[in-house]
Amino acid sequence: MQQRRLGKSELYVAPVGLGCWPLAGITSGTMTEADAVAVIDAALEAGVNHLDTAYAYGREGESERRIARALRGRRAHVVLATKVGVYWDQQGVLRLTGRPDLLRQHFEESLRRLELDHVDLLYWHAPADDAPLAETAGFFRELQAKGKTRAVGVSNLTVGQMEAFAAECPFAVAQVRYNRLQREIEAVVLPWCREHQVSVVAYEPLALGLLTGKFDRDHVFSEEDWRRRSPLFSGEAWTKNLEEVERLRRIAAGHGCCVAQWAVAWTISQPGVAAALCGAKRPEQIRETARAMSVALSPSELDA
Ligand SMILES: NC(=O)c1ccc[n+]([C@@H]2O[C@H](COP(=O)([O-])OP(=O)(O)OC[C@H]3O[C@@H](n4cnc5c(N)ncnc54)[C@H](OP(=O)(O)O)[C@@H]3O)[C@@H](O)[C@H]2O)c1
Repeated sequence: MQQRRLGKSELYVAPVGLGCWPLAGITSGTMTEADAVAVIDAALEAGVNHLDTAYAYGREGESERRIARALRGRRAHVVLATKVGVYWDQQGVLRLTGRPDLLRQHFEESLRRLELDHVDLLYWHAPADDAPLAETAGFFRELQAKGKTRAVGVSNLTVGQMEAFAAECPFAVAQVRYNRLQREIEAVVLPWCREHQVSVVAYEPLALGLLTGKFDRDHVFSEEDWRRRSPLFSGEAWTKNLEEVERLRRIAAGHGCCVAQWAVAWTISQPGVAAALCGAKRPEQIRETARAMSVALSPSELDA
């Protein structure tokens, strides 16, 4: 599968990346360090060369620590992305920040956890209102100039915020939610990125697992499962989403693939989208979704 360039950077990635949020073991169920290493092994064997994590993935940075463990001796083969700007406070509540002093402290901690002196791609995780945006962007510009990151990305920013950020610090990637059921970015974010040669990296391409087709209307999520609080899985939206998954399942069958593979193939076929970050808790999950890289959708199918 052809590698895709991220914006105007020198980074090239396969169109399916591994989203390493579930590796932290706090989204649902159990996830040990050995499980995380097995998922990363399977991803690399399946042709994935792009791992996406964040300072906040795990209260003690479990995702970054487990990635470090899994990549010992083969770091050079991977495009490694992390994010700063979201953190757990002392009460265990997730907070947002754009303050350069906090971002620096968190980034230094991320490097220690990852056992690295620089990363390939560093994102500002989400907009925050505790610092002027120009100061936040200046922090990222400085890190890139010092070689601490090879490229800069932003995540969850509006077009207005991306314009203000780019004025201080040009960036290569915008990471945003995008899947067949959640297409809000098509209105303004995706066109802006295409126009400015910023690559879109899509998160939640499986809509938290809904697009794998494994849930039915009677499914009950356990208390600690994050999906319990997602609007995708409640009320009328859930019924409609399940109907759409059944429709997509029939289309996928015509391609000889499963609905998860079709859904990821749909996302990575959209012009301007460089990669989709598929989360996985078991090796067979990423093996299955990585095969989306071999599903070819024609332009007429995409139009339809
Ligand atoms: N920038 C941001 O603000 C942001 C926000 C969210 C996510 N992200 C990034 O995007 C990545 C992807 O998002 P996500 O992991 O939350 O959601 P996702 O990729 O839409 O869904 C992943 C979940 O679906 C299930 N699954 C995956 N493959 C499967 C398969 N083949 N068969 C059956 N079930 C399967 C697994 O959960 P179960 O086994 O429990 O069903 C897995 O944890 C994250 O890991 C993270 O790197 C970024």
